[in-house]
Amino acid sequence: MKRESFDTLQQEVDFLPLNGTDHIEFYVGNAKQSAYYYQAAWGYELIAYAGPETGVRDRASYVLKQGKVTLILTTAMDPDSEISNHVRTHGDGVKFLSLWVDDATHSYNEAVKRGARPFMEPTRMEDENGHVIISAIHTYGETIHKFVERSNYNGPFLPGFEKPSHKIESVPVGLKHVDHCVGNVELGKMNDWVKFYEDVLGFKLLLTFDDEDISTEYSALMSKVVSNGNGYVKFPINEPADGKKKSQIEEYIEFYKGAGVQHIAVATDDIIHTVGELRRRGIEFLYVPDNYYEDLIDRVGAIEEDVEELKKLNILVDRDDEGYLLQIFTKPVEDRPTLFYEIIQRCGAQSFGKGNFKALFESIEREQARRGNL
Ligand code: FE2
Repeated sequence: MKRESFDTLQQEVDFLPLNGTDHIEFYVGNAKQSAYYYQAAWGYELIAYAGPETGVRDRASYVLKQGKVTLILTTAMDPDSEISNHVRTHGDGVKFLSLWVDDATHSYNEAVKRGARPFMEPTRMEDENGHVIISAIHTYGETIHKFVERSNYNGPFLPGFEKPSHKIESVPVGLKHVDHCVGNVELGKMNDWVKFYEDVLGFKLLLTFDDEDISTEYSALMSKVVSNGNGYVKFPINEPADGKKKSQIEEYIEFYKGAGVQHIAVATDDIIHTVGELRRRGIEFLYVPDNYYEDLIDRVGAIEEDVEELKKLNILVDRDDEGYLLQIFTKPVEDRPTLFYEIIQRCGAQSFGKGNFKALFESIEREQARRGNL
């Protein structure tokens, strides 16, 4: 494993400064029902809506917010739309990983000049609350990066969206911000996409995991983590590696019908509270065998949390030279074994839980076997 520090990354001029993740938009089969799930189970607040009632004829979109995490769930009204096509091919999945910028025109021009495939030229949108400028480029699979410039806008979300007429009383679980978003790409494509983020968006390679770091008896993967200059946006990219049986990345690509977002990691300051609440509300997490906890403190050193509590909730721990981190992974949140979530609490550590890969992947393989996909 190799890693660079953010100090090194920050010394160079950033031609594409990013303020962080603006929002993540999913194309789904039934946005109304998905919005209920994210409110009731995950504690997001419904903050905005666009659809037939607000003059948008071809779709309905629900905007959900908790801490700095903003999700949009969008469903098509028309069977022939690109939204319907996306859902038919991929199932529910991430369409837009949207980045918050100060200048969406400059971001677009810089990216396209360096080889990005354009999706949407800088476009001004306005209503009585001000204006925004949005542009967009393609990334892996059918996933798109939008650049969102919103400093001149004061509305509930973006022009065209209104405050919802109805929402349930949601109780937050302590989700703070997006920590990283992981993409699964096809065999042999990881380095191409790492190069894309380096050349086109000015990201830097932060970490490399090879199949020796992360292979289990059956499944293996390769992973490289790229980060923007200030470290606010981190995109690990996975590709399958040879194993005795089908890798978890191959299973994803087979069911998603191509490359796409594998997991979204969301940060919390109190993972015990967050995961306890999510479990109580029915969210399913990957199982970790009890023996993981037997020599935990010998492996990771002293931690503030009570090991029994972590064991009860199946929370994993890892340490690097800067501190430790606590993490846990949900089972896929669709019927296809595609996107899942990670909940992460960083106590100094800036890495990704390499020490947990083996336990984690064995757990994923147990689930793959239950699905008949190993
Ligand atoms: Fe992760």
